[in-house]
Amino acid sequence: MIDKIIECARGAGEIALGYFRSGDRLRMENKLNDSDIVTTADRESEEYIKDFIRKNFPSHSILSEETGTTAGSDNEVRWVVDPIDGTTNFFAGIPLWAISIGVEIGGVTEYGVVYLPATGELFHARRGCGAFLNGQPIHVSAETRLSRSVISTGFPVDKDTNPDNNLDNFAAVLPHVRDMRRLGSAAADLCYTAAGILGGFWELGLHEWDVCAGALIVKEAGGSISRFRSDRGVCIVCGAPEIYNQLKKLIK
Ligand code: IPD
Repeated sequence: MIDKIIECARGAGEIALGYFRSGDRLRMENKLNDSDIVTTADRESEEYIKDFIRKNFPSHSILSEETGTTAGSDNEVRWVVDPIDGTTNFFAGIPLWAISIGVEIGGVTEYGVVYLPATGELFHARRGCGAFLNGQPIHVSAETRLSRSVISTGFPVDKDTNPDNNLDNFAAVLPHVRDMRRLGSAAADLCYTAAGILGGFWELGLHEWDVCAGALIVKEAGGSISRFRSDRGVCIVCGAPEIYNQLKKLIK
């Protein structure tokens, strides 16, 4: 199963990479507002992934960013798909964007694959079997001090109208960390935390497809992760266990 998901992510990555920094070939449309965008590459990547699932696992259900729920005859197995996580980076020509595919069985994420085609990094995890970057085992940071950690976050796409925009948390955390980053792809934030590159990450206003695969990868790499708030989409905080404990106390 994991080999099939990796094959699928690589296929979608190749399609998206063909559009990366391609100038006029890449069309963009707004969704909610000027910050919320979709491109030709998102749509083609998603079409490829859905075709791949239909051909290889015709009974499985799918939740994907651009087309929502596609019910299969088997509702026990659900693929949770972000065809390009980090579309703003992708469209701007910044190489941090990812194909993110998680597979849930009976509501529990069993497999996760996050592929960053422009950097050549492929993360994968199977529940109970560890997490890997390009086939090598990864582990969260051994650092225990928040003050020596680089932490990342992000800002919700409705920030133009909703003042509940995470700046309060940003201000609360900033004085306590080595530095902050805004990578622009929640899947990359999660995987870089899993690999010990970042000490931790939090964000609010996310969706299931942004976090499904990456959350499993964090857990399997020995990280701590939980959801907070229930009124602002998917809100997630994670990190190396000691860092997570300190970070969690600062955000709301
Ligand atoms: C976005 C990225 C970004 C996060 C946004 C997400 P998308 O995903 O994960 O880091 O801040 O909230 O929507 O829309 O590019 O798949």
